[in-house]
This record gives sequence, C-alpha cells and structure tokens, in this order.
Amino acid sequence: MKKIVVLTGAGMSAESGINTFRDSGGLWEQYRVEDVASIEGYIRDPELVINFYNERRKQLLSVKPNRGHELVAALEQYFDVTVVTQNVDDLHERAGSSDIIHLHGELMKVTSSRSPNDPRQIQTLQPDHMEIHVGDKAPDGSQLRPFIVWFGEAVPKIEDAVEAVMKADICIVIGTSLNVYPAAGLVRYVPDDSPIYLIDPADVAWTAMRPYTHIKKGASAGMEELFEKLKNEC
Ligand code: APR
Repeated sequence: MKKIVVLTGAGMSAESGINTFRDSGGLWEQYRVEDVASIEGYIRDPELVINFYNERRKQLLSVKPNRGHELVAALEQYFDVTVVTQNVDDLHERAGSSDIIHLHGELMKVTSSRSPNDPRQIQTLQPDHMEIHVGDKAPDGSQLRPFIVWFGEAVPKIEDAVEAVMKADICIVIGTSLNVYPAAGLVRYVPDDSPIYLIDPADVAWTAMRPYTHIKKGASAGMEELFEKLKNEC
C-alpha cells in the first residue's frame, strides 16, 4: 500500500465550528498567545491557563468531525495513512483515523506540571469530567496541567513526524497557515518525487522550495475532490 501523510492544522476543524488561530475572528484575536499558550504564561497564572483549556475542552462536547475528517479516515481503505496534526481536538480520532501524531498535545489529556511528558503522569479526561482546577494533583504530586505543548516547550513527537513524512508517497496539507515551527518545516522532508496537495481556501506562505498542488477549497470540499482523484491512483 502507498503511504500518505496528512498534515493538518486548525482549518481542518473550522467546519466543525472550532475557531482557527490566525484567521479573522481567530483565537489569537481574543486572547494573547503569551498569556494562555506559553509555558511562561502558565507559570505566571496557572488558573487563567487551566480555565482557558477547560473552556476549549468543554467545546468538544458540542462539535463533531466534519466531512473532511471523515474522508481523511476513509483514505485508510486505499492507503497506509498517518495523520500528523497540530490540532489538540479529538476529531480525527472520532472520525476513525487510526494512526495520529499530535504534535501540540491533546485537549482531552492532562498531566504533571513537573514531568509533563512522563507517560505515567498522563491521564485522559472523560466527558463527565472535563475540567481540572488549581489544587488538582498529578500522580507525582505536582499541579495537574493540560497535556498541551505550549510555546516555549519542546515538541517531543516531531522526530516521529519527520520519520513518517520522509516515507510519504503522497503528502496532503490541510488547514494550516504553516506559521509555527517545527511543524511548518515538515513539508521540507517530503521526498522530491512525492506529490504534495495543499487544501486551504486561502493562499499560504509556503515553507518549502518545491512545487505543490493547491486545492483552494475548504477541508470538506477539498477532500471530496482529492479523495476521488487519489482512490483511482492507489
Ligand atoms: N478548510 C481548510 N482550511 C481552512 C478553513 C477551512 N474551512 N478555514 C480556514 N482555513 C485555513 C486558513 O486559511 C489558515 O491557513 O486554516 C489555516 C489556519 O491557520 P492557523 O489559524 O494559523 O492555524 P494553525 O496553522 O493550525 O496554527 C498552528 O499555532 O497557535 C498555535 O498551537 C497552535 O497548533 C496551532 C499552531
């Protein structure tokens, strides 16, 4: 089976009703990144950050995967698919994708403030318990925090993502402005003879010195078009 790597960003979940970050009306127009999405912001005001992610986590109860997520999952009928996402929502999982690398963490998980990437500290919250609070403790006794990779923190899964992209026969990029590294640099690891398809209604500051096919549509319509094309090429 040919291998496809799908690199997704916030635009993948836009049609599910989840805000992007840098579009008009995006999350970073309502909050300062350094206050709610950086390790310095968490250290400065853990309650503000914990509540920011409590609100985003509760929103997951009212949204569902869109057609784009479903078609990314359906690619697995014809290809060996790895999803490398910058998104922290669980919509790829709920759509049925089976191999997902979350570069920036997962909203449904919480962890230790002392050792956030220690697997023994990571817990998955359940729909009937979507909030954590200052004073809640991780197994190691430190304050429980969102399992999110904040600005200023390492991206532990980037090596796994690079490894996957280097094996891609086809790469699909959906709904990312390619503003944030190291994720934005992944397109540079796609083998030269592997085609890259970009699905995004807007132009994107392309981060690789190589050609790509831009399907200037939203995630669902773009995947409808690309799915038909690719399933005849598998
Ligand atoms: N379908 C596809 N793409 C869309 C849609 C849609 N319906 N709507 C918007 N987009 C595109 C925008 O044109 C833009 O290129 O999605 C992209 C969203 O870009 P950003 O808001 O910058 O989101 P993203 O690239 O995922 O941000 C990367 O920044 O703040 C951090 O950690 C956060 O993971 C996030 C990272």
